[in-house]
Amino acid sequence: MRERGMTRRRVLGIGGALGLTAATGLSTAAALARRPSITGAELRSAVPLPPPFQAPLPIPSVLKPVSTTGGADRYEITQREASAEILPGVKTPLWTYEGAFPGPTIESRRGRPVTVTHRNELPVPTVVHLHGGRTPAASDGYPTDLVLPQGWHDATMHTGHGMQGMHDPRALVTKLTRAYTFPLDQRPTLLWYHDHRMDFTAPAIWRGLAGMHIVRDDAEDALGLPAGPRELPLMIADRAFAADGTLVYPSLDPTLRVRPGVREPYFAGVLGDVILVNGAPWPVHEADAARYRLRILNASNARHYELEAVTDDGRRLGLVQIGADQGLLATPVTHQSLPIAPAERYDVVVDFSGVPVGSLVRMVNQLGSGRTRDVMAFRIARGATDDSRVPRTLSTDLPAWRRPDAVRVRDFAFRAGQMHGGHGWLIGGLPFDPARSDVAARLGDVEVWRVVADVHHPVHLHLVGFRVLSRGGRPPLPHDAGLKDTVSLRPGEAVEIITRFDGYRGRYLFHCHNAEHEDMGMMANLEII
Ligand code: C2O
Ligand code: CU
Ligand code: CU
Repeated sequence: MRERGMTRRRVLGIGGALGLTAATGLSTAAALARRPSITGAELRSAVPLPPPFQAPLPIPSVLKPVSTTGGADRYEITQREASAEILPGVKTPLWTYEGAFPGPTIESRRGRPVTVTHRNELPVPTVVHLHGGRTPAASDGYPTDLVLPQGWHDATMHTGHGMQGMHDPRALVTKLTRAYTFPLDQRPTLLWYHDHRMDFTAPAIWRGLAGMHIVRDDAEDALGLPAGPRELPLMIADRAFAADGTLVYPSLDPTLRVRPGVREPYFAGVLGDVILVNGAPWPVHEADAARYRLRILNASNARHYELEAVTDDGRRLGLVQIGADQGLLATPVTHQSLPIAPAERYDVVVDFSGVPVGSLVRMVNQLGSGRTRDVMAFRIARGATDDSRVPRTLSTDLPAWRRPDAVRVRDFAFRAGQMHGGHGWLIGGLPFDPARSDVAARLGDVEVWRVVADVHHPVHLHLVGFRVLSRGGRPPLPHDAGLKDTVSLRPGEAVEIITRFDGYRGRYLFHCHNAEHEDMGMMANLEII
């Protein structure tokens, strides 16, 4: 309890001292009155920021396979430094997949295997994880399964504070390239791939190592949902820019080679003051007056959003949720306001047909303040016919696990604490250690997990999807519907989830997806036996 109080005071105090957002926007709900709405501290950009809704919304290009023979698709991605004009007239150096941020989108079919060969031309080791993928352990991107760049000396990463001298004998380390194989035998949904290197995931994602991966199937295609140019993947991420156009990030070691971690005010999470969607600041998209399917991913390190679609005359359009992290819901759920935590995905249909041509629909973040309230906008450019629909029944294959199916109940506390004599984020009182076994679950077992948080912690499990059973001792909230792989714990809250450990045996992870928390210890081993 003492730790928790300290953490909150620190978060609030820092927000106040820097005049930033941590202390603002407290929920008006009595139950949440003493809980900060944001966990983290905001960086300030030193370049002039463009006005909102000028940059056109980029759509990341879809990667072309190098071969499609033998019942599988093969892709190649080079990880390399590149520079992009994110802000008008400003060059920003990035770490990229294939020269682009976001990286290229991979489009795939359920059950059709995909192999992606990554080549690491960055100055540091990397690891690729396909978030939400049902992936054999060898291709899941365990944080020590490094792909070393040319000329990297192993000793570098075992000195100083890097990896605390830990050596992981089970690590599968490769030089320069690695082929990741994804069977994609799973429900269709929006996945994303991102870096997952031990201790350095947060700054690597921040520099640009994130891309989207869509899985489809015939059943979903047959539903008649908005498609083609009316289906938009939206990767939302906040960043901040230094005077010279580089991305600012408070790393203790800006080379990201040796010493992990961030400077003290940012322990709770790094927030930027620029909101990017698909890599463009506060973009605008010219839309038909018709239904759109928005496939929203919060790829921010620590920022939470509560999205609303607001018209020029102040009307909020319904956000009709059709899918969660792990695919379609059974039936649509309409939100006026949609909370979305780091790494969560929401599949949403919004109908612009009643919006006057020429006017704007702004996507607003109710948790933001000042410039971070705006996310993006749609300019309704033309009237249009629309033969799309949102069926009442979206899917019938959601797992229906019940409490009595569970052979075990496990409890995990996600809390601040001490790690190696400094500040850390812990699960069950312990910081991540690749050598320790935290959970050994039997393949095929159903389990209930009770997770409890001090501040905000978006809790993510690799390999499996789960359902939310309860939140704060009550039934789940409307946006907890469906099959998820990341659940947002609010300050002081306990959540119960249920899952079946299905798929593959081997070494996986569960962790907080506040990327700074993840790097500072809040990760644990999930071994499927
Ligand atoms: Cu996006 Cu281990 O996660
Ligand atoms: Cu994951
Ligand atoms: Cu966390």
